[in-house]
Amino acid sequence: MSPLLQSARPRWSPNSWRQLPAAQQPTYDDPSTSIEVEERLAASPPLVFAGEARALRDQLAEVAAGRAFLLQGGDCAESFADFNERAITDTFRVLLQMAVVLTFAAACPVVKVGRMAGQFAKPRSAPTESREGVTLPSYRGDIVNALDFTAAARRPDPRRQLRAYAQSAATLNLLRALAQGGFADLHRVQQWNLDFLNASPQGERYRDVANRISETLAFMRACGLDAATEPRVRQVQFYTSHEALLLGYEQALTRRDLATGEWYGGSAHFLWIGERTRQLDGAHVEFMRGIANPIGLKLGPTVDADALLRLLDSLNPDDRPGRLTLIARMGADKIATALPPLVQAVQREGRKVVWACDPMHGNTRETGNGYKTRPFARILDEVRAFFEIHRAEDSYPGGLHCELTGQDVTECLGGAQAITEQGLADRYRTHCDPRLNASQSLELAFLIAETLKDYRRATAPEFGSIERVKLS
Ligand code: PEP
Ligand code: CO
Repeated sequence: MSPLLQSARPRWSPNSWRQLPAAQQPTYDDPSTSIEVEERLAASPPLVFAGEARALRDQLAEVAAGRAFLLQGGDCAESFADFNERAITDTFRVLLQMAVVLTFAAACPVVKVGRMAGQFAKPRSAPTESREGVTLPSYRGDIVNALDFTAAARRPDPRRQLRAYAQSAATLNLLRALAQGGFADLHRVQQWNLDFLNASPQGERYRDVANRISETLAFMRACGLDAATEPRVRQVQFYTSHEALLLGYEQALTRRDLATGEWYGGSAHFLWIGERTRQLDGAHVEFMRGIANPIGLKLGPTVDADALLRLLDSLNPDDRPGRLTLIARMGADKIATALPPLVQAVQREGRKVVWACDPMHGNTRETGNGYKTRPFARILDEVRAFFEIHRAEDSYPGGLHCELTGQDVTECLGGAQAITEQGLADRYRTHCDPRLNASQSLELAFLIAETLKDYRRATAPEFGSIERVKLS
């Protein structure tokens, strides 16, 4: 780090970000309620513990070394209205399915991280929204205000943070139960297929993989290797993540770990800095540099290599593997020019990062009939380009970051179901950005599995001698 930057930065503390400009924060009418809420949160238990965040950091270090793959996905924005067992279970299930496809086909361990149990705060491109001559504050996620276009709904209310905290705790509780309590047992791999997928080509393809896994487990049992008692077969490690946008909330849940003396964000295992809040001298970078969790940094097409290296210096000065995941969200039309210089700079400097692809946020567009959507074909294009660029630069394409749901929504165009602009109206339910539905998510997982398999075959000699399983 340059001495200038160091001297410009006083010692970090959980509230040192308050000295710096903080983008995308709501303005509350009543600051005293906001202080009370933060005090209540600060006195509440954290949702995750330091040891879990460290375990995830270690697993991400494996990804950084090219030995595992990161799968991160979930809603663009969780909402108070869609809070129910079914929604949580279905998203968890589709992530498990994607992970199984990737693990089996590419023979690659998959680190599973949900955009769940805390993904409530949304950055907006404008602070206000106007409709038919009426201007109101923009919707900033259910943790801040409500989506309805009325003055009462759009008024930021700090007490919403307490509800978001409670909902996150209940969601995380169910996720832990699902991950550890038998639902995620590989012996049940057949049952993860969602009902509406059963008849689809993706469902069939998945069933084929599931059958082969079941056969493998039966074969192992016949050989006397009893997978039924092996925790790694009966349970999964599942982690939570969200954008660390609302800094008062994040600070209130930050705790000092007694074992190491380090500070950890306690609202999720993994937190990331969004595209709109990655200013080097801004409050978000300041807050995130001091917590020891594994963190992400979104990178859009306007970042240049120098700016990226300065951010790496600030956020990961010791170059700890697993600490930092760079999430490229360039757009299918820009990735070929925007990503290579960044990958080259990281390679040249020998930095140990995880590179993940977010093929969603650079491919959003408005349809003629007024829907915010993403063409599935553009999403696939960006993923393919991401892999090709990394291969050309001798760098490891380590992960996927996606907005998806297990529900049968119609929010992104195309895919095997061939969702059309007219079809978007059928089940368009997102509170913010359009998500892949379960069928599109699986289709993407199959594509990545094939690409990853090729990549690993070409780059990891130990895989060269194994005839990999064909997926269809
Ligand atoms: C998001 O992940 O929902 C998001 C707002 O992304 P970005 O910061 O990359 O625009
Ligand atoms: Co989004």
